[in-house]
Amino acid sequence: MSETLLSIEDLVVEFRQGRKTRVHAVDGVSLTVAAGEFVALVGESGCGKTTTAQTAMRMVEATSGTIRYRDRDITHASQREMRPVRREMQIIFQDPYESLDPRFRVKDIVAEPLQIHGIGDREARVGAALERAGLTPADLYMERYPHELSGGQRQRVSIAAALALEPTMLLADEPVSMLDVSVRAGILGLLDELRQSGLGILMITHDLSTAAHYADRICVMYLGRIVEEGPASEVIRNPQHPYTKALVSVVPQPDPELTMQPQILQGETPNPTDVPSGCRFHPRCPVATAACSSEDPQLRAAGSDGHRAACILL
Ligand SMILES: Nc1ncnc2c1ncn2[C@@H]1O[C@H](COP(=O)(O)OP(=O)(O)OP(=O)(O)O)[C@@H](O)[C@H]1O
Ligand code: SF4
Ligand SMILES: [Mg+2]
Repeated sequence: MSETLLSIEDLVVEFRQGRKTRVHAVDGVSLTVAAGEFVALVGESGCGKTTTAQTAMRMVEATSGTIRYRDRDITHASQREMRPVRREMQIIFQDPYESLDPRFRVKDIVAEPLQIHGIGDREARVGAALERAGLTPADLYMERYPHELSGGQRQRVSIAAALALEPTMLLADEPVSMLDVSVRAGILGLLDELRQSGLGILMITHDLSTAAHYADRICVMYLGRIVEEGPASEVIRNPQHPYTKALVSVVPQPDPELTMQPQILQGETPNPTDVPSGCRFHPRCPVATAACSSEDPQLRAAGSDGHRAACILL
Protein backbone atom coordinates (compact mmCIF):
# COMPACT_ATOMS: atom_id res chain seq x y z
CA MET A 1 0.00 0.00 0.00
CA SER A 2 1.22 3.48 -0.85
CA GLU A 3 1.45 6.06 1.88
CA THR A 4 -1.68 8.15 2.44
CA LEU A 5 -0.76 11.78 1.87
CA LEU A 6 -3.92 13.83 2.29
CA SER A 7 -6.69 12.63 4.54
CA ILE A 8 -9.85 14.66 5.08
CA GLU A 9 -12.40 13.47 7.62
CA ASP A 10 -15.96 14.70 7.97
CA LEU A 11 -15.08 18.17 6.70
CA VAL A 12 -17.70 20.89 7.12
CA VAL A 13 -17.22 24.39 5.71
CA GLU A 14 -19.88 27.04 6.18
CA PHE A 15 -19.77 30.62 4.98
CA ARG A 16 -21.85 33.41 6.44
CA GLN A 17 -23.75 35.55 4.01
CA GLY A 18 -25.07 38.58 5.80
CA ARG A 19 -26.23 38.04 9.36
CA LYS A 20 -28.69 35.23 8.93
CA THR A 21 -27.77 33.15 5.89
CA ARG A 22 -25.39 30.25 6.12
CA VAL A 23 -23.89 28.69 2.99
CA HIS A 24 -23.33 24.97 3.54
CA ALA A 25 -20.53 24.74 0.96
CA VAL A 26 -19.05 21.48 2.28
CA ASP A 27 -21.18 19.33 4.52
CA GLY A 28 -19.37 16.22 5.76
CA VAL A 29 -16.75 15.25 3.19
CA SER A 30 -14.17 12.53 3.79
CA LEU A 31 -11.53 11.60 1.25
CA THR A 32 -7.95 10.41 0.98
CA VAL A 33 -5.23 10.70 -1.62
CA ALA A 34 -2.24 8.35 -1.54
CA ALA A 35 1.20 8.71 -3.12
CA GLY A 36 1.01 7.73 -6.79
CA GLU A 37 -2.79 7.98 -6.79
CA PHE A 38 -4.89 10.13 -9.12
CA VAL A 39 -8.22 11.04 -7.51
CA ALA A 40 -10.89 13.05 -9.32
CA LEU A 41 -13.47 15.10 -7.42
CA VAL A 42 -16.40 15.53 -9.79
CA GLY A 43 -19.62 17.48 -9.54
CA GLU A 44 -21.62 20.37 -10.96
CA SER A 45 -20.89 24.04 -10.38
CA GLY A 46 -21.28 25.18 -6.77
CA CYS A 47 -21.24 21.71 -5.18
CA GLY A 48 -18.18 22.57 -3.06
CA LYS A 49 -15.20 21.15 -4.95
CA THR A 50 -12.98 24.23 -4.78
CA THR A 51 -13.90 24.90 -1.16
CA THR A 52 -12.89 21.33 -0.27
CA ALA A 53 -9.49 21.72 -1.96
CA GLN A 54 -8.83 25.18 -0.58
CA THR A 55 -9.73 24.05 2.93
CA ALA A 56 -7.34 21.11 2.56
CA MET A 57 -4.63 23.69 1.74
CA ARG A 58 -5.75 25.80 4.71
CA MET A 59 -6.60 28.70 2.37
CA VAL A 60 -10.12 28.51 3.84
CA GLU A 61 -10.86 27.63 7.48
CA ALA A 62 -12.76 24.44 8.25
CA THR A 63 -15.91 24.84 10.35
CA SER A 64 -15.38 21.30 11.66
CA GLY A 65 -13.71 18.06 10.68
CA THR A 66 -10.08 17.02 10.40
CA ILE A 67 -7.40 17.52 7.77
CA ARG A 68 -4.23 15.46 7.93
CA TYR A 69 -1.15 15.56 5.78
CA ARG A 70 0.88 12.40 6.19
CA ASP A 71 0.83 11.89 9.94
CA ARG A 72 0.20 15.49 10.91
CA ASP A 73 -3.12 16.96 11.89
CA ILE A 74 -3.02 20.32 10.10
CA THR A 75 -6.63 21.37 10.76
CA HIS A 76 -5.53 24.14 13.09
CA ALA A 77 -1.83 24.38 12.22
CA SER A 78 -0.34 27.87 12.43
CA GLN A 79 1.15 29.61 9.39
CA ARG A 80 4.59 28.61 10.64
CA GLU A 81 3.59 24.99 11.12
CA MET A 82 2.08 25.01 7.63
CA ARG A 83 5.29 26.10 5.90
CA PRO A 84 6.79 22.62 5.44
CA VAL A 85 3.36 21.26 4.47
CA ARG A 86 2.95 23.95 1.82
CA ARG A 87 6.18 22.77 0.22
CA GLU A 88 4.71 19.31 -0.08
CA MET A 89 1.18 20.17 -1.19
CA GLN A 90 0.90 22.54 -4.14
CA ILE A 91 -2.19 23.84 -5.90
CA ILE A 92 -2.66 24.56 -9.61
CA PHE A 93 -5.43 26.94 -10.55
CA GLN A 94 -7.91 26.94 -13.37
CA ASP A 95 -6.88 30.11 -15.16
CA PRO A 96 -3.25 30.31 -16.31
CA TYR A 97 -3.95 33.83 -17.60
CA GLU A 98 -4.78 35.08 -14.12
CA SER A 99 -2.40 33.00 -12.04
CA LEU A 100 0.84 34.21 -13.70
CA ASP A 101 2.06 37.73 -12.96
CA PRO A 102 2.47 39.40 -16.40
CA ARG A 103 5.37 41.56 -15.15
CA PHE A 104 7.66 38.63 -14.41
CA ARG A 105 9.71 36.45 -16.70
CA VAL A 106 9.14 32.68 -16.62
CA LYS A 107 12.39 32.08 -14.70
CA ASP A 108 11.31 34.51 -11.97
CA ILE A 109 7.80 33.06 -11.75
CA VAL A 110 9.15 29.55 -11.25
CA ALA A 111 11.89 30.78 -8.87
CA GLU A 112 9.45 32.69 -6.63
CA PRO A 113 8.33 29.76 -4.47
CA LEU A 114 12.00 28.78 -4.02
CA GLN A 115 12.77 32.29 -2.89
CA ILE A 116 9.84 32.33 -0.44
CA HIS A 117 11.07 29.08 1.09
CA GLY A 118 14.71 30.26 1.12
CA ILE A 119 15.94 27.47 -1.15
CA GLY A 120 19.22 27.97 -3.03
CA ASP A 121 20.57 26.64 -6.33
CA ARG A 122 17.57 28.25 -7.96
CA GLU A 123 18.62 28.36 -11.58
CA ALA A 124 19.23 24.63 -11.77
CA ARG A 125 15.96 23.90 -9.94
CA VAL A 126 13.99 26.22 -12.22
CA GLY A 127 15.47 24.54 -15.29
CA ALA A 128 14.67 21.08 -13.97
CA ALA A 129 11.10 22.07 -13.05
CA LEU A 130 10.45 23.57 -16.51
CA GLU A 131 11.76 20.45 -18.20
CA ARG A 132 9.70 18.23 -15.91
CA ALA A 133 6.64 20.28 -16.89
CA GLY A 134 7.40 19.58 -20.55
CA LEU A 135 8.91 22.98 -21.44
CA THR A 136 12.07 21.71 -23.13
CA PRO A 137 14.67 22.92 -23.58
CA ALA A 138 14.12 25.09 -20.52
CA ASP A 139 16.44 27.80 -21.86
CA LEU A 140 13.97 28.55 -24.60
CA TYR A 141 11.35 29.63 -22.03
CA MET A 142 13.33 31.14 -19.16
CA GLU A 143 13.45 34.71 -20.42
CA ARG A 144 9.92 34.91 -21.80
CA TYR A 145 6.99 36.81 -20.34
CA PRO A 146 3.56 35.14 -19.91
CA HIS A 147 2.12 37.05 -22.90
CA GLU A 148 4.73 35.38 -25.10
CA LEU A 149 3.31 31.94 -24.29
CA SER A 150 0.25 29.97 -25.39
CA GLY A 151 -2.43 28.99 -22.86
CA GLY A 152 -1.07 25.44 -22.63
CA GLN A 153 2.48 26.71 -22.10
CA ARG A 154 1.28 29.07 -19.39
CA GLN A 155 -0.39 26.23 -17.55
CA ARG A 156 2.88 24.29 -17.84
CA VAL A 157 4.69 27.26 -16.27
CA SER A 158 2.19 27.17 -13.37
CA ILE A 159 2.85 23.47 -12.99
CA ALA A 160 6.63 24.09 -13.13
CA ALA A 161 6.28 26.69 -10.36
CA ALA A 162 4.41 24.08 -8.29
CA LEU A 163 7.05 21.44 -9.07
CA ALA A 164 10.01 23.68 -8.20
CA LEU A 165 9.51 22.86 -4.51
CA GLU A 166 9.46 19.13 -5.29
CA PRO A 167 6.05 18.56 -3.74
CA THR A 168 4.59 15.17 -2.89
CA MET A 169 1.07 16.13 -3.92
CA LEU A 170 -0.71 18.40 -6.40
CA LEU A 171 -4.24 19.75 -6.12
CA ALA A 172 -5.38 20.73 -9.60
CA ASP A 173 -8.58 22.80 -9.70
CA GLU A 174 -10.11 22.46 -13.18
CA PRO A 175 -6.60 22.58 -14.69
CA VAL A 176 -7.73 22.42 -18.33
CA SER A 177 -11.19 23.97 -18.45
CA MET A 178 -9.86 27.37 -19.61
CA LEU A 179 -7.60 25.82 -22.24
CA ASP A 180 -8.12 25.10 -25.88
CA VAL A 181 -9.40 21.56 -26.41
CA SER A 182 -6.31 20.75 -28.52
CA VAL A 183 -3.88 21.22 -25.59
CA ARG A 184 -5.96 19.67 -22.80
CA ALA A 185 -4.77 16.10 -23.33
CA GLY A 186 -1.14 17.27 -23.09
CA ILE A 187 -1.67 18.87 -19.68
CA LEU A 188 -3.69 15.92 -18.36
CA GLY A 189 -1.02 13.56 -19.70
CA LEU A 190 1.57 15.57 -17.79
CA LEU A 191 -0.42 15.18 -14.55
CA ASP A 192 -0.62 11.47 -15.27
CA GLU A 193 3.16 11.27 -15.73
CA LEU A 194 3.65 13.07 -12.42
CA ARG A 195 1.36 10.57 -10.74
CA GLN A 196 3.43 7.74 -12.22
CA SER A 197 6.52 9.35 -10.78
CA GLY A 198 4.89 9.00 -7.33
CA LEU A 199 3.01 12.25 -6.72
CA GLY A 200 -0.52 12.15 -5.35
CA ILE A 201 -2.95 14.08 -7.56
CA LEU A 202 -6.34 15.46 -6.55
CA MET A 203 -8.02 16.86 -9.64
CA ILE A 204 -11.21 18.84 -9.51
CA THR A 205 -13.37 18.70 -12.59
CA HIS A 206 -16.98 18.96 -13.68
CA ASP A 207 -16.16 16.66 -16.58
CA LEU A 208 -16.80 13.01 -15.79
CA SER A 209 -15.27 11.76 -19.04
CA THR A 210 -11.92 13.40 -18.18
CA ALA A 211 -12.11 11.85 -14.72
CA ALA A 212 -12.92 8.46 -16.22
CA HIS A 213 -9.90 8.64 -18.50
CA TYR A 214 -7.24 9.75 -16.05
CA ALA A 215 -8.30 9.00 -12.48
CA ASP A 216 -7.74 5.87 -10.42
CA ARG A 217 -10.60 6.83 -8.17
CA ILE A 218 -13.61 9.11 -8.63
CA CYS A 219 -15.51 10.92 -5.87
CA VAL A 220 -18.83 12.34 -7.03
CA MET A 221 -19.96 15.38 -5.09
CA TYR A 222 -23.48 16.78 -4.81
CA LEU A 223 -24.41 19.80 -2.73
CA GLY A 224 -21.51 19.59 -0.29
CA ARG A 225 -21.39 15.81 0.09
CA ILE A 226 -19.69 12.90 -1.63
CA VAL A 227 -22.59 10.77 -2.84
CA GLU A 228 -20.56 8.08 -4.62
CA GLU A 229 -16.92 7.05 -4.69
CA GLY A 230 -14.90 4.14 -5.97
CA PRO A 231 -12.45 2.92 -8.60
CA ALA A 232 -12.96 5.06 -11.72
CA SER A 233 -13.86 2.11 -13.95
CA GLU A 234 -16.46 0.85 -11.44
CA VAL A 235 -18.09 4.24 -10.98
CA ILE A 236 -18.36 4.70 -14.76
CA ARG A 237 -19.37 1.16 -15.73
CA ASN A 238 -21.57 0.46 -12.76
CA PRO A 239 -22.82 3.74 -11.23
CA GLN A 240 -25.01 3.20 -8.15
CA HIS A 241 -26.29 6.63 -7.11
CA PRO A 242 -29.09 8.11 -9.25
CA TYR A 243 -27.09 11.35 -9.58
CA THR A 244 -24.01 9.50 -10.87
CA LYS A 245 -26.25 7.50 -13.22
CA ALA A 246 -27.54 10.75 -14.68
CA LEU A 247 -23.99 12.12 -15.09
CA VAL A 248 -22.75 8.88 -16.69
CA SER A 249 -25.75 8.73 -19.04
CA VAL A 250 -24.58 11.85 -20.89
CA VAL A 251 -20.91 10.79 -21.17
CA PRO A 252 -20.08 9.43 -24.63
CA GLN A 253 -19.06 5.77 -24.18
CA PRO A 254 -16.51 4.06 -26.42
CA ASP A 255 -18.28 0.74 -25.80
CA PRO A 256 -21.77 0.81 -27.42
CA GLU A 257 -23.00 -1.84 -24.95
CA LEU A 258 -22.53 0.66 -22.14
CA THR A 259 -24.46 3.45 -23.82
CA MET A 260 -27.38 4.59 -21.66
CA GLN A 261 -30.47 6.60 -22.40
CA PRO A 262 -29.43 10.23 -21.74
CA GLN A 263 -31.06 11.38 -18.53
CA ILE A 264 -31.54 15.10 -18.05
CA LEU A 265 -32.06 16.05 -14.41
CA GLN A 266 -35.24 17.95 -13.66
CA GLY A 267 -35.82 20.41 -10.87
CA GLU A 268 -33.98 23.43 -9.60
CA THR A 269 -30.22 23.48 -9.32
CA PRO A 270 -29.32 22.96 -5.70
CA ASN A 271 -28.88 25.84 -3.31
CA PRO A 272 -26.37 25.48 -0.46
CA THR A 273 -28.18 28.09 1.63
CA ASP A 274 -31.26 25.86 1.70
CA VAL A 275 -30.27 22.19 1.76
CA PRO A 276 -33.26 19.86 1.27
CA SER A 277 -34.27 17.61 4.18
CA GLY A 278 -33.51 13.88 4.09
CA CYS A 279 -31.58 12.94 0.98
CA ARG A 280 -30.39 16.27 -0.44
CA PHE A 281 -30.85 14.93 -3.96
CA HIS A 282 -34.54 14.06 -3.48
CA PRO A 283 -36.10 17.10 -5.24
CA ARG A 284 -34.33 16.08 -8.45
CA CYS A 285 -34.12 12.33 -8.07
CA PRO A 286 -36.05 10.38 -10.72
CA VAL A 287 -36.54 7.38 -8.41
CA ALA A 288 -37.20 9.12 -5.07
CA THR A 289 -39.68 7.53 -2.66
CA ALA A 290 -41.61 9.06 0.25
CA ALA A 291 -38.86 8.06 2.70
CA CYS A 292 -36.25 10.09 0.77
CA SER A 293 -37.40 13.44 2.13
CA SER A 294 -36.82 12.34 5.73
CA GLU A 295 -33.93 9.88 5.67
CA ASP A 296 -30.42 11.23 5.09
CA PRO A 297 -28.46 8.34 3.55
CA GLN A 298 -24.81 7.80 4.43
CA LEU A 299 -22.19 6.25 2.15
CA ARG A 300 -22.39 2.47 2.23
CA ALA A 301 -20.69 -0.34 0.34
CA ALA A 302 -22.07 -0.70 -3.17
CA GLY A 303 -19.52 -3.04 -4.71
CA SER A 304 -15.92 -4.10 -4.38
CA ASP A 305 -12.72 -2.09 -3.83
CA GLY A 306 -14.27 0.63 -1.72
CA HIS A 307 -17.09 1.42 -4.16
CA ARG A 308 -19.67 3.24 -2.01
CA ALA A 309 -22.78 5.29 -2.57
CA ALA A 310 -25.28 7.21 -0.41
CA CYS A 311 -28.81 6.19 -1.38
CA ILE A 312 -31.48 4.49 0.71
CA LEU A 313 -32.33 2.15 -2.14
CA LEU A 314 -28.93 0.42 -1.89
N1 LIG B 1 -16.14 32.94 0.40
C1 LIG B 1 -17.37 32.53 0.18
N2 LIG B 1 -18.43 33.14 0.78
C2 LIG B 1 -19.70 32.73 0.59
N3 LIG B 1 -20.03 31.67 -0.17
C3 LIG B 1 -19.04 31.03 -0.80
C4 LIG B 1 -17.66 31.41 -0.67
N4 LIG B 1 -16.89 30.57 -1.43
C5 LIG B 1 -17.75 29.70 -2.00
N5 LIG B 1 -19.03 29.98 -1.64
C6 LIG B 1 -20.23 29.22 -2.02
O1 LIG B 1 -20.03 27.87 -1.64
C7 LIG B 1 -20.57 26.99 -2.61
C8 LIG B 1 -19.47 26.07 -3.10
O2 LIG B 1 -18.55 26.81 -3.87
P1 LIG B 1 -17.29 26.17 -4.58
O3 LIG B 1 -16.54 27.27 -5.22
O4 LIG B 1 -16.56 25.30 -3.62
O5 LIG B 1 -17.97 25.24 -5.69
P2 LIG B 1 -17.34 24.45 -6.92
O6 LIG B 1 -17.84 23.06 -6.83
O7 LIG B 1 -15.85 24.63 -6.94
O8 LIG B 1 -18.02 25.18 -8.17
P3 LIG B 1 -17.43 25.52 -9.63
O9 LIG B 1 -17.49 24.22 -10.40
O10 LIG B 1 -18.38 26.55 -10.16
O11 LIG B 1 -16.03 26.03 -9.47
C9 LIG B 1 -21.16 27.88 -3.71
O12 LIG B 1 -22.52 28.03 -3.46
C10 LIG B 1 -20.43 29.18 -3.53
O13 LIG B 1 -21.22 30.26 -3.99
S1 SF4 C 1 -32.04 8.28 -1.25
FE1 SF4 C 1 -33.89 8.57 -2.46
S2 SF4 C 1 -33.72 10.64 -3.33
FE2 SF4 C 1 -31.72 10.05 -2.57
S3 SF4 C 1 -30.70 9.22 -4.32
FE3 SF4 C 1 -31.61 7.47 -3.28
S4 SF4 C 1 -33.61 7.23 -4.22
FE4 SF4 C 1 -32.88 9.24 -4.82
MG1 LIG D 1 -14.58 25.52 -8.32
